[in-house]
Amino acid sequence: MFRTKTVEQSIQDTEDPEFALKKSLSALDLTVFGVGVIIGTGIFVLTGKVAAQTAGPATALAFVVAGVVCGLAALCYAEFASTVPVAGSAYTFSYASLGELPAWIIGWDLVLELALGCAVVAVGWSGYIRSLLDTAGFHLPAGLSGTHGGQFGFDLPACLLVLVLTGVLVVGMKLSSRVTNVIVAVKVTVVLIVILVGAFLITGANYKPFIPPAQATEGGGGLSAPLIQLMAGFTPSNFGIMGIFTGAAVVFFAFIGFDIVATAAEETKNPQRDVPRGILGSLFICTILYVAVSVVVTGMQRYNKLTVDAPLADAFKAVGHPFWAGLISFGAAVGLTSVCMILLLGQTRVFFAMSRDGLLPRVFSRVHPKFGTPYRSTILLGSIVAAVAGFTSIDELAELVNIGTLFAFIVVAIGILILRKKRPDLPRSFRTPLVPFVPILSVLASLWLMFNLPAETWLRFAIWMVVGFVVYALYGRGHSRLGKSG
Ligand code: ALA
Repeated sequence: MFRTKTVEQSIQDTEDPEFALKKSLSALDLTVFGVGVIIGTGIFVLTGKVAAQTAGPATALAFVVAGVVCGLAALCYAEFASTVPVAGSAYTFSYASLGELPAWIIGWDLVLELALGCAVVAVGWSGYIRSLLDTAGFHLPAGLSGTHGGQFGFDLPACLLVLVLTGVLVVGMKLSSRVTNVIVAVKVTVVLIVILVGAFLITGANYKPFIPPAQATEGGGGLSAPLIQLMAGFTPSNFGIMGIFTGAAVVFFAFIGFDIVATAAEETKNPQRDVPRGILGSLFICTILYVAVSVVVTGMQRYNKLTVDAPLADAFKAVGHPFWAGLISFGAAVGLTSVCMILLLGQTRVFFAMSRDGLLPRVFSRVHPKFGTPYRSTILLGSIVAAVAGFTSIDELAELVNIGTLFAFIVVAIGILILRKKRPDLPRSFRTPLVPFVPILSVLASLWLMFNLPAETWLRFAIWMVVGFVVYALYGRGHSRLGKSG
């Protein structure tokens, strides 16, 4: 169960032509790719929810806290990615350092981050599309507009989006990264409009108080209260200093994606140099934009008046600028498309790596003879995600995505320590600074955010992991290629 796949073996596997992906990406492609997946539902939707319900104007601080946690994790991801440049991200890294079972657990856990994250973003996208359609005078029937207020409805736009993106990914990486470049440009322009135009519409009084005083949650919150507050025996509350951390655990979603840059290592021309640059560069750019956006938006409109569905656009409407509001909605819808696509791409690559190792059926790792893409896993996963996006609504799902991702961060940080001990000889073009201090700090910081997530999220996460454990025991353990050769 703790057999590890050597780093050399991982790299060698990628050279077998029948199972090899094309190498075509540069550092700039990776940074654009990173920004393309990082800026999404987090900043466009969750900012409003967190400002209105948990942190007030201090949402900017929540972004700083989440950004620091991600920065620490990014330093660890960058070293791993530059040492083990193979598709599959945290999954591959842990196979090379911790062993097969932990690697399986991570791969299974990444499904939460990537597939579920993709579904969440597709549903968010559908909201913006429907709002644009409404403005243009077209209205989808309620039964095809997604679930609202306990009233079930199939989310047709979200489902269609995922299916179309699946097709794009099957046809090939090059096409998808070209499309991504255009979309990322639109998205970053819209975010800059929010910051630069919004800065002139700020009312200073909206920042008082910057950190609203703590307020007990209605009915004590029950299982929906953050685990740390229940464990420490506090009266569960919103706002105040604790609210900043509760908010950070939610807006963490806005940073998800920088780790996905590492999943494209195998398709990068010079992974040793370019992957660390891509990861750290995209994270840095996004942190600055997020803090600026949240400062501007909470300055434009009083925090408790911000809306939960389309807060950035609505803040502009509230101060009498519907033109900018429309433009922002349009850009958000365009931007969310790329997030959704890259999450799906990351998921198919992790699945591909797991199948190549025999932990999932091997048929899924054959690449398409013409397109050079893992088309079978792409089609299978795309269909499942499309169904999930059609049948589910957003809220709790985002928190489940966060807990899964934070857990992966912890495993990667521990992996760094183990690999430094076990394989000090491996060439590392990027070295995490101050080892063991930074990886240990990264573990503690990720744990802290996890504890700030609701108790019910922990429960769902535990159930998901138990199911994964059973699947491994029944299939992966017996079919592992490493197990068979060893
Ligand atoms: N970080 C991505 C988003 O905010 C997943 O949508």
